Amino acid sequence: MIVPLPTRIVRRSKGFTLDCGTSVRVTPGAEQAARLLRALLRPATGLPLPIADHGQIVMALDAKLVGLGAEGYALTVNEHGVLLRAGTAAGLVHGVQTIRQLLPVEALRSSRVSEVDWTLPGADIRDVPRLPWRGFMLDVARHFQPVHVVRRFIDLMALHKLNVLHLHLTDDQGWRMPVPSRPLLSSVGGWRTETNGDGVPHGGTYTRGELEGLVAHAAERGIRIMPEIEMPGHARAALAAYPDLGFAQQRLPVWTRWGISDSAFGLHAMGFIREVLAEVLEVFPGSHVHLGGDECLMPEDVHGEFLRQAGGFLLDRGRVPAAWEPTGDPRAVVMPWKDETQATKALERGQDVVMAPHTSTYLDYPRSDGAHEPPGQPGFVVTTRDVYHVPLPDGVLGAQCQLWTEHVRTREHLEYLAFPRLVALADTLWSQRPEWEGFTTRMRLHSSRLAELSIPAEVRREPCEHS
Ligand code: ACM
Repeated sequence: MIVPLPTRIVRRSKGFTLDCGTSVRVTPGAEQAARLLRALLRPATGLPLPIADHGQIVMALDAKLVGLGAEGYALTVNEHGVLLRAGTAAGLVHGVQTIRQLLPVEALRSSRVSEVDWTLPGADIRDVPRLPWRGFMLDVARHFQPVHVVRRFIDLMALHKLNVLHLHLTDDQGWRMPVPSRPLLSSVGGWRTETNGDGVPHGGTYTRGELEGLVAHAAERGIRIMPEIEMPGHARAALAAYPDLGFAQQRLPVWTRWGISDSAFGLHAMGFIREVLAEVLEVFPGSHVHLGGDECLMPEDVHGEFLRQAGGFLLDRGRVPAAWEPTGDPRAVVMPWKDETQATKALERGQDVVMAPHTSTYLDYPRSDGAHEPPGQPGFVVTTRDVYHVPLPDGVLGAQCQLWTEHVRTREHLEYLAFPRLVALADTLWSQRPEWEGFTTRMRLHSSRLAELSIPAEVRREPCEHS
């Protein structure tokens, strides 16, 4: 009952029991995956799992292995031990997550459990993902999310073999990306006086060290972070700090309401944009940087020119721009969020596409139409089943779920909205033959894993929820 469902799993009669005498043998390059296995199993099991020459768990990185691609792995458990092999470090860490799921569910607990038999059932697994982009977008701009919350999301993504964390770092209501040459972005743009008249100031910012820590934490788990700096619209927090950069050059505070603002960077802000992107590239080494590009009330030609220049800056430096709308450059990745025709058109132009349609991937919509649901984005309900059936036209790189946080402030609320819908996304993108009935069966066991991880099955309504 591994989630997402492995490509092939054959049960063997005899399994292997981990105990205090179990150690891990690694080939060069597999050390990090071994450390991850130990770090993940230690809290619940207390097992030391040292690295040793004669370990019963063997982790082998072998670039010559065929058929496993950039992220696949092969895992055998029998009475003699465990053999995990992959052609890449990412494949090994996905295999580590499978080992974790093969153990009794108590292995996921964050505190010591006694009297559990840590037996891995005998199995031969060969596992390769169907699609290479399995993402999750977290909006840390509308409501700031502290580092520990983001770290925990990375851990939860890794358990489900998701591999791209898209951080929506800037918007009208808050700027979270530190840029040393532009300190007002954080000190002014990072704060708003209130939200929809609640009278309560809200804000926060990350330090460069914190962001680098998140990048490293994610990389150790096979996840890359794609930062998003919104432009030219959704820019009011930055323009509160530096009004001269605006299309209208008007002095307005960081926005305290939700919706589509009419604030946007002018083309003359391109020098500033390059400064910001240069810092972004230093902090985030991943291949893609998201430039936003959506919901901008500015003439189409200026909008297009803006994104073309910003995207060109990234391409010149070996990175790939991504955007919510086509940027005019066929090398940019498009994330269709409105409907499938956006995707069809981009695919016809030969562009890379990651599906993000709001009707099946926006997790700020309620999970059901039940009266118990906490307040969310009005207009739709997105069920777990809707996410499972996200449209995936031939040729797309994959898909991602979006968690916008206008209505979400707490970790509990975020996780309630993310799970189990994010599990459905992971299963449908990873499995070679996704199948809803089978998923719901596996979800029954998997729910107990989510419970061990203290993922809330319900949330209390907040007393002064602002909508
Ligand atoms: C979006 O929802 N404006 C991308």
